[in-house]
Amino acid sequence: MLDLARQYATIRAEALAAIERVCSSQHYILGEEVEAFEHELADFCGTALAVGCNSGTDALWLALLAAGAGPGDSVITTPFSFFASASAIVRAGARPVFVDVDPHTLNLDPTLVEAHLRTGKSTRQRALLPVHLYGQCAPMDVLQRIADEFQLALVEDAAQAIGASWNGRRAGSMGATAAFSFYPSKNLSAYGDAGVVTTNNPDFAARMRRLRNHGSPSRYLHEEFGWNSRLDAIQAAVLRVKLPHVETWNRQRRERAATYDRLFTQSGLTSATSDAPIRVLATTPQAHHVFHQYVIRARRRDDLRQFLANRKIGSEVYYPIPLHLQPVFAHLGYTEGDLPEAEHAAREVLAIPMFPELTDDEQQWVVESIAEFYS
Ligand SMILES: Cc1ncc(COP(=O)(O)O)c(C=O)c1O
Repeated sequence: MLDLARQYATIRAEALAAIERVCSSQHYILGEEVEAFEHELADFCGTALAVGCNSGTDALWLALLAAGAGPGDSVITTPFSFFASASAIVRAGARPVFVDVDPHTLNLDPTLVEAHLRTGKSTRQRALLPVHLYGQCAPMDVLQRIADEFQLALVEDAAQAIGASWNGRRAGSMGATAAFSFYPSKNLSAYGDAGVVTTNNPDFAARMRRLRNHGSPSRYLHEEFGWNSRLDAIQAAVLRVKLPHVETWNRQRRERAATYDRLFTQSGLTSATSDAPIRVLATTPQAHHVFHQYVIRARRRDDLRQFLANRKIGSEVYYPIPLHLQPVFAHLGYTEGDLPEAEHAAREVLAIPMFPELTDDEQQWVVESIAEFYS
């Protein structure tokens, strides 16, 4: 599914030298290395500022608080994402409101977001939190227009989308704040947990710098309740080694995705007929997709997954249970059938091996195996 050792082999010397640099400095938390990474990452995303923290989950929490979400507020988001997209809303003290996804991309459907807001059903709507799922940006121009009209802060969950863009604007540069994760499987990944929030707003950045350090603007002075969400210098140093490679790695992912597209078309598995066993998710023309995952919708998905596993081909289901049906959100009152596209997708999606160093032969073997399953 993902062979991180192949990437490590290409940057081992540089990464170890960076770790050694931190150990020699004996400065492990925040400090120069983190500040340098924050500058480089902000440049990469096209934002004025970036605030490092210890995970994508904490980045979302900081991004929401800085954008003004808090107790009593509602935040609209997608039900088809990793749990943190919604749990961070709860951690910020607000209430998630789920709106269904576009079945072609599985990103938040802006038409439904607008329809929901026009019903005037939820109160104290504060923010809109689209997730750039699988490395493809949500339709940010329409979402921005909706956010402006209804005076909502736009907070991007860009955890899966470093280097992606929408109409030429980079993920992370479109919202009031945007959260990234550098979890080891991400397109830009640390050697442990790490995250960052990007923003153009200096007040938001200053608040997040306090919040990530126990609400403390200076030593032993605490102005509000934050938490320990600091980024450590070893992770920042590793991320600084990897950041200059991200564009190349993303280009290789896009080439791998094009190869899968071609192989699926040639195999006939994705024919336009209604009984085609496989459907590939759509890439929107405005989106520069960075393929954090390559995801198909498959008939008899679970049997296919087992068949592939028997051949030692990795695959994953992102995500088997939509967020509105998670037990922990039962109190929100959603029931099965409320968000049919997300529920349908949860039964069909399958992510197949995708990483820059994947070979043509391996991709061929994956598609041949899928074809054999359906033959
Ligand atoms: C869409 C999304 N949001 C948030 C997160 C949380 O990031 P982390 O695991 O770094 O806390 C992840 C990744 O795991 C993610 O995929």
